[in-house]
Amino acid sequence: MIVQPCIDLPVTYFKINAQDNFRFSTVMAGAGWVKRSATHHWITPPPHSSMLNHTEMISLTAISRVFHMGDQEVRALDSIDLEIGSGEYVSIMGPSGSGKSTLLNIIGLLDQPDSGRYELDGKDVTGLSEVEQARVRREKIGFVFQSFHLVPRLTAAENIELPLIIEGVTPPERKSRVDEALLGFNLSDRAGHRPAELSGGQRQRVAIARATILRPTALLADEPTGNLDHRIGAEVMALLEGLHERGTTLIVVTHDRELGARAHRRIAMRDGEIVADEK
Ligand SMILES: Nc1ncnc2c1ncn2[C@@H]1O[C@H](COP(=O)(O)OP(=O)(O)O)[C@@H](O)[C@H]1O
Ligand SMILES: [Mg+2]
Repeated sequence: MIVQPCIDLPVTYFKINAQDNFRFSTVMAGAGWVKRSATHHWITPPPHSSMLNHTEMISLTAISRVFHMGDQEVRALDSIDLEIGSGEYVSIMGPSGSGKSTLLNIIGLLDQPDSGRYELDGKDVTGLSEVEQARVRREKIGFVFQSFHLVPRLTAAENIELPLIIEGVTPPERKSRVDEALLGFNLSDRAGHRPAELSGGQRQRVAIARATILRPTALLADEPTGNLDHRIGAEVMALLEGLHERGTTLIVVTHDRELGARAHRRIAMRDGEIVADEK
């Protein structure tokens, strides 16, 4: 799988992830960049970082989301404008009820705004049908939740395999990708265990493996450390940051100031509005 082409160059660079099944054996050893000209492919150091943030991956314009509770109206998002570039690492913080989850759900196409425009990778996704949105979500977005959302009766390996089954990947390919993910997330010895038999940190690692098995370009995490103690939470954040370093756009909602401060861009929300946005 090849992601993030940078096309402002005489040759084309592609970012590849370590687990990508690329035909160069050297690539299998780690992440890197592939430079492609008419006749050659070769692995290179990444191009200058200014080229990496070339594209605005997520672009929200005047996005509003209103919930009706009886005759009460809750403006969960109040005309949000937000652009997030490909490959950014963003944290979203703010008091409970400020609209963080609603924003993440809209970015992740789990919810629809009542008004405004959402462009993902330059394409308007606001007007897509539910089926089309689900396809875009599967292709581009991974989601991680505070409460893991694993299927209780499936083992760790089966939970990770689920998106591959839905995507129609063949059984041998599924096996090799699940084994690779188990290894990569240090879960090989827990493969046959159900979520109830796993620690919180292990459950979240399974959830992250499942969220990234289809190699999304963006990973959205809603309080991913909220049910974990601080040390395990920091380990999970480091894992997410490792995925970001390999090219994934990372957006994390967190209550934890220390973890939120680690992001390269920090957004603060209050009453459905963005009140700070620092880099
Ligand atoms: N499905 C829903 N139905 C009704 N109100 C909702 C719903 N989801 C969120 N809200 C309300 O919208 C506001 C923002 O919620 P949320 O995005 O979950 O905030 P946060 O994640 O920052 O705690 C809150 O007042 C919440 O009660
Ligand atoms: Mg929330």
